[in-house]
Amino acid sequence: MSEASRLTVDYTNLMAAGVADCGLSEADLDRWAGPAAEAVALTAERRRRGDIGFLDLPDDRAQARAALEYARSLPPQVDTVVVLGIGGSSLGPHALYSALGRPLDPLRPRTAGLPRRLLFPDNSDPATFAAVLEVCPPERTVWNVVTKSGSTAETAAQLLVVFDRVASALGAEAAPRHIVVTTDPGKGALRRVADRLGLTSFPIPPSVGGRFSVLSAVGLLPAACAGLDVTGLLDGARAMRDRVLEPDLRKNPALFLAAALTAHHTERQRPMVVMMPYADALYDTADWFRQLWAESLGKAHDTDGKPVHVGPTPIASRGATDQHSQLQLYAEGPDDKTYLFVAPGHRPPLPLPRSEPAVAEPGDYGYLAGRDMGELLDAELRGTIASLTRRGRPNASFTLDRLDAPALGELMMLLMATTAYAGPLYRVDPFDQPGVEEAKQLAYAALGRSGFDHLTGHLAAARDPDPRYTF
Ligand code: PA5
Repeated sequence: MSEASRLTVDYTNLMAAGVADCGLSEADLDRWAGPAAEAVALTAERRRRGDIGFLDLPDDRAQARAALEYARSLPPQVDTVVVLGIGGSSLGPHALYSALGRPLDPLRPRTAGLPRRLLFPDNSDPATFAAVLEVCPPERTVWNVVTKSGSTAETAAQLLVVFDRVASALGAEAAPRHIVVTTDPGKGALRRVADRLGLTSFPIPPSVGGRFSVLSAVGLLPAACAGLDVTGLLDGARAMRDRVLEPDLRKNPALFLAAALTAHHTERQRPMVVMMPYADALYDTADWFRQLWAESLGKAHDTDGKPVHVGPTPIASRGATDQHSQLQLYAEGPDDKTYLFVAPGHRPPLPLPRSEPAVAEPGDYGYLAGRDMGELLDAELRGTIASLTRRGRPNASFTLDRLDAPALGELMMLLMATTAYAGPLYRVDPFDQPGVEEAKQLAYAALGRSGFDHLTGHLAAARDPDPRYTF
């Protein structure tokens, strides 16, 4: 990539140059160049109209400053920030913390002040949430409630528990010191509650949807509380943003990837995309991408309203762990996937000592002695890429020079722009999620929420158990 870039992108193995007939040709690229340029024009137009805000988040430095200021203002005894959110309101900050925080950070002994540990209960599972309450003393915990709509039931349920907990342990007047919200600046139930209680709040711009919100206060506030480099993150994202506005797919790494993955799906019958980081720290980035890709592109109707039921299936895999779980399928099973490998170019050193009893005879572990554990993981990555490539399984590689905030910012912007451009290539709107909304509303009906009773009949779609099929 450009000289200043900290991310190296290699698409050779998506192409015939890497995997011969299994890859795309230059003629394929020529054919996709027109639709790709249209996808850029359409996205630029929606950005101009104020519909799509994620591309502009790297320029909003006021948000980063406000997040850093808030993090610095927390009293030193606060050692934990719990993010209460789900989907796009949790996956982004979780990915940042896993990638840029210290490994196993929540398990480390805390010192006063920054960095605070972050916890992401995410789901509304009472077993997990009760445990979160158990390990988070009220006076040492801040709860960051994150919901764009303000109406997500899982987050609302967590909030009710937390309100009660803070009030009963510290007094009702303690809420503004221990609860901070991130939500729409003008509307929604959480906005009303925050205003009523005088809670500090951070805005999610109306033009930024949950899964595209990692570079807004949704990601920046928890990241700042964990002492992460939010400025570097935005710098990296901005550098990549400037590269992905280009309408020529051969010059735009996001557009190239969007076109290549769409072509492999729609013309080569490879509907699945496996993202396989070879670094534990990046697994949650794959999990974040899984939601981004699935919720943005899996749609019932195209942009003309015609039923299409399209969408690729994203899969998050972990290297090298899943070499011992999924790779057999990837290598020899159906040729219905493309693979995105992500890895850091440098890893922390961990030498493998020469321990005489373990290397005494040829065939023991001598081949490892004197090497480094990171060399092993790199070798596993090379081996997997080589094996899949030999078998004609199309794959791409992303190497973050160092696993730092600017490189991650580049990668995340690249993947968000890829998703935004894949939408028009699949002829769907990548920024809505009507299927999710329906399930949310049916859950309200199941809870007897007023205003949703007309949907109660739809719940019967999940029929009573049929005795012929129950055991
Ligand atoms: O990407 C999305 O829009 C969704 O995944 C949302 O983030 C998720 O449903 C949570 O919504 P909210 O932030 O409104 O609570």
